Amino acid sequence: MSDKKVIAVLGATGAQGGGLVRAILNDKSGGFSARALTRDVNSDKAKALAEMGAEVVAADLDNAESLSKAFQGTYGVFAVTNFWEHYSPEKEKAQAKSIAKAAKNAGVKHIIWSTLEDTRNFIPLTDNRMPTLGDGKYKVPHFDGKGESNKYFTEQNLPVTFLNTSFYWDNFIYFGMGPKKGPDGKLALSLPSGERKLAGIAAEDIGKSAYGIFKNGSEFIGKTVAITGGNLTGKMMADSFGKALGKEVVFNAIPFDVYRGLGFPGADDLGNMFQFYHDFEDYFCGVRSVDFTKSINPELKSFDKWLDENKSKIPLD
Ligand SMILES: NC(=O)c1ccc[n+]([C@@H]2O[C@H](COP(=O)([O-])OP(=O)(O)OC[C@H]3O[C@@H](n4cnc5c(N)ncnc54)[C@H](OP(=O)(O)O)[C@@H]3O)[C@@H](O)[C@H]2O)c1
Repeated sequence: MSDKKVIAVLGATGAQGGGLVRAILNDKSGGFSARALTRDVNSDKAKALAEMGAEVVAADLDNAESLSKAFQGTYGVFAVTNFWEHYSPEKEKAQAKSIAKAAKNAGVKHIIWSTLEDTRNFIPLTDNRMPTLGDGKYKVPHFDGKGESNKYFTEQNLPVTFLNTSFYWDNFIYFGMGPKKGPDGKLALSLPSGERKLAGIAAEDIGKSAYGIFKNGSEFIGKTVAITGGNLTGKMMADSFGKALGKEVVFNAIPFDVYRGLGFPGADDLGNMFQFYHDFEDYFCGVRSVDFTKSINPELKSFDKWLDENKSKIPLD
């Protein structure tokens, strides 16, 4: 039997967990093995992970029993929930609570909870600079539910690292946020970020950073670790797009209210998120440092490097 430390990875078929599974499997002498958790062990993504050498095990965040079973015999757990599948902070909180309880039952030695700030600690619900959402309970529902859930891990006295992530640059590929051709035929990157900086990262680097945290043993247990690949203004990103694509890309700062009103599911949540990034730029970018992130993930990609590798995937129409 292998004496490697087993890390159970939630969201293994997704961006964050997938990055961690690949980081574990690519480091043959690292002393860790990956248990990839998924609801469907027969999906193409699950099969691809098995082929790469991961142990693929069924688990469902909505089934506490399945989590307890899946965490048995593990050294570590990487925990992430997917707000965008249900748009419910209540559900996200229930899932986080189940994860924390299951980790406690299994006696895991280190759990990383992929979380974000509870924006209500910065913008109280009574602050009318942005609408209050989610039945009058949240400002940025997909941040607040995660941040509020931090307490479930501390309540269980778990050896936890809170991993505060950043905006995925991959949203420019998969979320339609990249530059688009305007009526004048020019490419414009349109974001509600004004002149302030946005902390961003290649999604794959989140998993790689989580791996760095596990490898550091006890150093980050009981701590909050915030990561970024680069803190950049919209104009800086537009200039990088221009260089990468070999065409002019202008930056267009959309007002927050206009973005909130775009009508796609979650537009109000994301509009509030961008306003939070904007209004608390000093805090948000201040706690997210490229140098620190490189210290736990030496392969960390800059925006320019990420763009160079991914520009052909970005839909421009
Ligand atoms: N986009 C951004 O810029 C950004 C930035 C920071 C944080 N985030 C946060 O990242 C989270 C999503 O992570 P991601 O992007 O890595 O996910 P993703 O690529 O969208 O994939 C979703 C993953 O969640 C798993 N999952 C969903 N529901 C599950 C359930 N009930 N039981 C077990 N597994 C479940 C899926 O596994 P199976 O389908 O295989 O079961 C899949 O692996 C969101 O909560 C979001 O708020 C996003």
